[in-house]
Amino acid sequence: MKTCYITTPIYYSSGNVHIGNSYSTIACDVFSRYHRLNGYDTFFLTGMDEHGQKIENAAKKQQKSPQSLVDEIAKSTEELWKNLNISNNDFIRTSEERHYRIVQAIFERLLAQGDIYLGEYEGDYCVPCEAFLTKTQLVNEKFCPDCGRETIKVKEESYFLNLKKYEKRLLQYIKEHPHFIQPETRKNEVISFIEQGLEDLCVSRTSFQWGIPVLSNPKHVIYVWIDALSNYLTALGYQSGNDELYRKYWLEGTKVFHIVGKDILRFHAIYWPIMLMALEVPLRFELIAHGWILMKEGKMSKSIGNVVYPMDVVNRYGLDPLRFYLIKEMSLGNDGVFTYERFIEKYNVDLANDLGNLVSRTISMVNKYQQGIVYKPTATYFSWDQEVEGKIADVIQTYQNDFNRFAFQDGLQEVWSLVGRANKYIDETIPWALAKDPNQQKALQSVLYRLLEMIRVVTIMIAPVMPDTAHIILEELGLDQTHLSFLELQYGAVDTMKVTEKPIVLFKRLDLEEEIKKYGI
Ligand code: MSP
Repeated sequence: MKTCYITTPIYYSSGNVHIGNSYSTIACDVFSRYHRLNGYDTFFLTGMDEHGQKIENAAKKQQKSPQSLVDEIAKSTEELWKNLNISNNDFIRTSEERHYRIVQAIFERLLAQGDIYLGEYEGDYCVPCEAFLTKTQLVNEKFCPDCGRETIKVKEESYFLNLKKYEKRLLQYIKEHPHFIQPETRKNEVISFIEQGLEDLCVSRTSFQWGIPVLSNPKHVIYVWIDALSNYLTALGYQSGNDELYRKYWLEGTKVFHIVGKDILRFHAIYWPIMLMALEVPLRFELIAHGWILMKEGKMSKSIGNVVYPMDVVNRYGLDPLRFYLIKEMSLGNDGVFTYERFIEKYNVDLANDLGNLVSRTISMVNKYQQGIVYKPTATYFSWDQEVEGKIADVIQTYQNDFNRFAFQDGLQEVWSLVGRANKYIDETIPWALAKDPNQQKALQSVLYRLLEMIRVVTIMIAPVMPDTAHIILEELGLDQTHLSFLELQYGAVDTMKVTEKPIVLFKRLDLEEEIKKYGI
């Protein structure tokens, strides 16, 4: 069976996950669900990055032990993922024994091989990003290029990972594997970064304790990125004595994807593959870097007070509209903006008007004119019929091409063009006029079947993004959940449908003025 392994970044435990980092997880969930529908045995991993100075500092501030802080955050994050309908197969935490034991072994192996060596680090460090920065990376000589905050000077004995040794091999690998880093613009960024020459990476710290101690020299803790990146292997049981998952999903797997935000591209495109090369683990993954969810004012930040938490939106407007909005608003690799105004507009137009109305109008007509049952017609009755069948096939093809490459926005655009085509088909064929003419009963039945087919196909295609909505629509079409499969993603796959007597309102229209009054958005 074809397999697919999909990972999110693991989230820092220093604060609550907001709508921006939830995007990473929701997008991976969409990708995972898409692959499952497509017949892949899919393993979807997410988890928490629990070590480092930032977490140690946060715990101190709250007068808690780091462990109790990360336990709390892990619990609330896992709960959040349940509420967001995230279908992860595992949830790895870097403070777990199954993880840190292997990280220690990885470190010792690299040390014994000479890929890690002891030296002294003197330079600039960004605590919030847990990143060592070179002089050329600093903005105005002291600010972090990623978060803009002031860096600190550090000087300490450190272990280093020898990156230079692997620089050429990595560059060659990237050039020979065009899909390794996507999208293309990000790949080019990585190539030019490597071409400027890599400096060896500092991989241990002595100035804080909250981390995985180096076995052979425990005054050092393993610096977060070596620790964090290894989660993608430790979760699969790599080197644990029980590495069935590792063999199945990595070594012998069909597809492996790491999905990350653009800000952590370098760690995944350079340090991680070099670690794997040093460990002689085959590079099986493709790396997809997505953009950021921004607010009107730019980045979300506690100090500006513009942070949106996903459950705020879910509690007001439901889960699927949020998942839909985030996925539809972000184009591959670029940033997207979250505003309630735009959210409500998309909700009303795409969901309430276009999709919701199509489903309820069609089901009502099937009840009114056909006692709720339609059968597959054996003939075509209108000039539009064949065109509609062609349209369905085209949309499915483009949707799959788009979703395969993580271009969800483009894929959903296609799906909505089919929703639009279905609505237009109603205007063209005028079923209520056909209903009045006894000679047109077969034509009417054919029109309604084709409409239900368009809805059914749309339902399968939106299922990765809006799983609950897809379940409801399928039920309304009188089909059980086994029909949610790409094996049935074509016109005519179902012969008969007996629809529900009373369709529910899937998406109740929102009034922007009222919402503004209610919530002051
Ligand atoms: N712990 C590291 C990742 C280690 S992976 C081995 C980390 N954690 S994070 O919590 O800061 O970020 C996790 C993910 O959330 C990253 O992919 C980051 O790009 C993403 N996002 C954080 N803010 C975001 C937005 N506003 N919008 C979209 N994604 C954002 O980095």
